[in-house]
Amino acid sequence: MKEIRVVELFAGVGGFRLGLEGWQGKSASSHYTKPFKSPYKVVWSNQWEPSSARSGELQEANMVYHHNWPDTPDSKHYPHDLNSVASPDFTDKKVDGLIPDHDMLVGGFPCQDYSVAGVNTKGIEGRKGVLWWNIHKILKVKRPKFVFLENVDRLLKSPTNNRGRDFAIMLATLNDLGYTVEWKAINAADFGMPQRRRRVYILAYQKSSIKVKDLLQWIETDGVFATAFPSSFHGPIKELQLEEDLKLISDQYNEGKFLNCGVMKDGKVLMSDFKAICPRTALKDYSLKYQLLGDILLNGEMNDEPSFFIDANKKLKEPLLKIMQTGFEVDARLKRQGDVVELHTELDKWIYLKGRKAEERISSKGKFYYKEGPLSLTDDLNKPSRTIITSEGGPGASRFKHLIEIDGKFRRLHPIELERLNMFPDNHTAIGTGNDKEVAIGPAKRAFFMGNALVVGVVEKVGEELKKRM
Ligand SMILES: C[S@@+](CC[C@H](N)C(=O)[O-])C[C@H]1O[C@@H](n2cnc3c(N)ncnc32)[C@H](O)[C@@H]1O
Repeated sequence: MKEIRVVELFAGVGGFRLGLEGWQGKSASSHYTKPFKSPYKVVWSNQWEPSSARSGELQEANMVYHHNWPDTPDSKHYPHDLNSVASPDFTDKKVDGLIPDHDMLVGGFPCQDYSVAGVNTKGIEGRKGVLWWNIHKILKVKRPKFVFLENVDRLLKSPTNNRGRDFAIMLATLNDLGYTVEWKAINAADFGMPQRRRRVYILAYQKSSIKVKDLLQWIETDGVFATAFPSSFHGPIKELQLEEDLKLISDQYNEGKFLNCGVMKDGKVLMSDFKAICPRTALKDYSLKYQLLGDILLNGEMNDEPSFFIDANKKLKEPLLKIMQTGFEVDARLKRQGDVVELHTELDKWIYLKGRKAEERISSKGKFYYKEGPLSLTDDLNKPSRTIITSEGGPGASRFKHLIEIDGKFRRLHPIELERLNMFPDNHTAIGTGNDKEVAIGPAKRAFFMGNALVVGVVEKVGEELKKRM
C-alpha cells in the first residue's frame, strides 16, 4: 500500500492522527485490541492554544502530542501559532518552504466569520485571524489531493444573520482550487459509538483523484460518507449553483442554511437532511467494545479516586440561599423556607443547578427571574453519553457536566472515561513532554482536551473508506 502523507492542523491531542494511523498498530474501533494496517502517515502537525498563550499557561496539548508522537526525521510537530507558518500575508514561496509536501490535509478548525474583506491583486482577502484563510493559503500553495476537515454542525448555518453564507464561502473557495466536496453531519452515537457528538465532516478531493459523476447517487449510496455512514434521505433534496465571484457570495448569499449531507462539484450543490441507517448487527463494526455510557466506566478502580465523588452528606461551610419566584416549584429534594431554597451540601448544588428554577436576580433594569427547565440529575448509563464539553473537568457543581450514580453514590467522569467516550486510548492525555521532562497533566485540562477533540472512530471509518478509492 502506498504511503499517504498527511498534515494534521489544529491537532489538539491528535484525534485525526489516531483515527487515520491507529495506535501502536491497533485500531480505535476495537479500542486498540485489533491490528490495523494503515497507509496514512502524519508527516507534519501543528497545534497552538491561543488562550494558554495569553494567560502564560503551558501549551499542554503540544506536550501531550510530543509525548505520544516524538519527532522523527520524517514526522515533525510544530508547536506554534499557525499564523507563523501559513499567514495569508506570506508569499506562496515562504509557505511552500515551511510546510512539507503532503497528499492529505486534515484538521478540526474553529468556526469563525469567513466573510471576505476584499479582493486584491494577490487574490481574495479573508479577515485577519480567521483560520479558514490560513487553511486556504496552504491548500493554494501545496495542493494536496485530499482534504478532511471537522467542525461544529453550526458551520452549516452560520452566521446567524445570514444563514449558510460561511459554508458557501468555504465551498466556493474549495471549488476555485479544483476540489469536489462532500460533507455529512454525523452523530457518532447513531453509528454505535459511545458519545452523542454531532459534528460536520467535510471531505474534498481534487477532481482528478476521485471522479464523481452523478451527484445524487454520490450522497445517497456511492460517496465516501454514504458508504461509511449509510443513511436515507429525510426531507427534500435541494439544489443550488454557487456564484463564482467570492466577493459576491460574501456580500449577497441568500440561499439559507446548508442541509446535513451534500456534495458540491463545479459549483453545483446537491444536499438533503437524512436519517442514519445502522442496524444493531452493524454497531460493533464502529465500536467493538464501548457503545453506551455504562460500557466505558472504570467502576472498581474509582474507589481510589475520591475527588471524583460527590459527598452527599458533607455540609457546606455556609448554606447557599436562592430566592425563587413566589410559588415556583423546585426539586423536592431541596429544603425550602417560603421563597428561599437552601442548599446545604455539595449534592444540593448539583440538584439545584440541574433542576428547574425561577431565580431572583438583579440587573441594571431592576429585579427579574432567571428561569431554567429541569435536566436529569444523573446521566443514563444505558444510552450513549451526552456530548463532552470543554468545561467537563474540575470538582465544581455544574448544570452541564456529566454526573452518574452507581450503588447510591454520585460521581463525575474520570479523564480515562472521557477518553473512552472519544475512542482515544486509555490515558492518552495523562502525561506530556516538554523540554525533555515528563509532566503529569491535571484532570481538568484532560477534560478540556476531550471537550475539544472528536470521536476517533468516525475518522477511522472515513479513512478506511477513502483509502479504497485511492
Ligand atoms: C477543535 S480543536 C481540535 C482538536 C483535535 N481534533 C483533537 O482531536 O484533539 C481545535 C484546536 O485548534 C487549536 N488552535 C486554535 N487556534 C490555533 C492557531 N492559531 N494555531 C494552531 N492551532 C490553533 C486549539 O488549541 C485546538 O486544540
